[in-house]
Amino acid sequence: MAWKGMPAMTKAADVYVTRLLPEPALQILREGGLSFRVWPDEGRPVPRDVLLQEVRECEGLLCLLTDRVDEELLAAAPRLRVVANTAVGLDNVDLAACTRRGVMVTHTPGVLTETVADLAWALLLAAARRVVEAQKTIEAGGWNTWSLMFMTGQDVHGRTLGIVGAGRIGAAVARRARGFQMRILYHNRRRNEALERETGAEYRGFEELLEEADFVVCLVPLTEETRGLFGYEQFRRMKRTAVFVNVARGAVVREAELERALREGLIWAAGLDVFEKEPIGPDHPLLKLPNCVCLPHIGSATVATRLRMATLAAENLVAALAGRRPPNLANPEVLGPQA
Ligand code: GLV
Repeated sequence: MAWKGMPAMTKAADVYVTRLLPEPALQILREGGLSFRVWPDEGRPVPRDVLLQEVRECEGLLCLLTDRVDEELLAAAPRLRVVANTAVGLDNVDLAACTRRGVMVTHTPGVLTETVADLAWALLLAAARRVVEAQKTIEAGGWNTWSLMFMTGQDVHGRTLGIVGAGRIGAAVARRARGFQMRILYHNRRRNEALERETGAEYRGFEELLEEADFVVCLVPLTEETRGLFGYEQFRRMKRTAVFVNVARGAVVREAELERALREGLIWAAGLDVFEKEPIGPDHPLLKLPNCVCLPHIGSATVATRLRMATLAAENLVAALAGRRPPNLANPEVLGPQA
């Protein structure tokens, strides 16, 4: 389907855009001299068969994390030179396959760091203090009087925060914890000495962190190593008063095992922005638990940040097709040894 702002095209578009993006992002493509076609439905991902058809002649693909970029898509798009993902996570893109075919892959790091850290805290506080459950209790007519132990949750201030995956967002989550006078622990593939200096965070092994932390915030990217990292055994190691927060990717958690852990009271509560299979529907078992706060993958969803992600993705794409090095290239090896 042709984008309505474009003149009728006989020639194939240079770029396929898999979702109706905010106008400033499309303007960047126009100013870059690119013709493009857009999947026009904001509320529904492009069907796979349409996507495979649309990319056939394209040199650029501007996509979202709901689009799978794999061998099949790359084979269908022999002229493709760049995939610009409008997300920081790249688990929807087969990076190795793109690199093998010389296709540049870009993402949108940096611009969403603080926004996602804010949401991690919203979930942490909501789960610890039973915010959603408390509102639902009023709605159900369950607020009869002020009473001493009614809706009591867990203190956040002065307790121990454990961050699993201490990259940019993890560091931003840690910085906020200082305002709550928390002790900060982190686990990461590598020591993050800058984070230790700045926030006083202490490095721990994964299991040690699970045992010591009152709040465990998961921020690891989804890779073959992190898939299913949190399961029943990991929740069993945590304190029974612990709160688990996931703002990374759903598949890092074995969801059925988390549900069992919450039901059995192995941990106090969970706050989840991401799920193994998204979107989840109203019948999802985790929604039935009063001690699980569930959000529809809105970590970076502020007006300003989503706009910046879209324009950054467009900037990356334009740079790549103009023969410049894109600002956020995830596979620089495609540019050769000098890059
Ligand atoms: C969102 O989840 C992202 O990876 O940007």
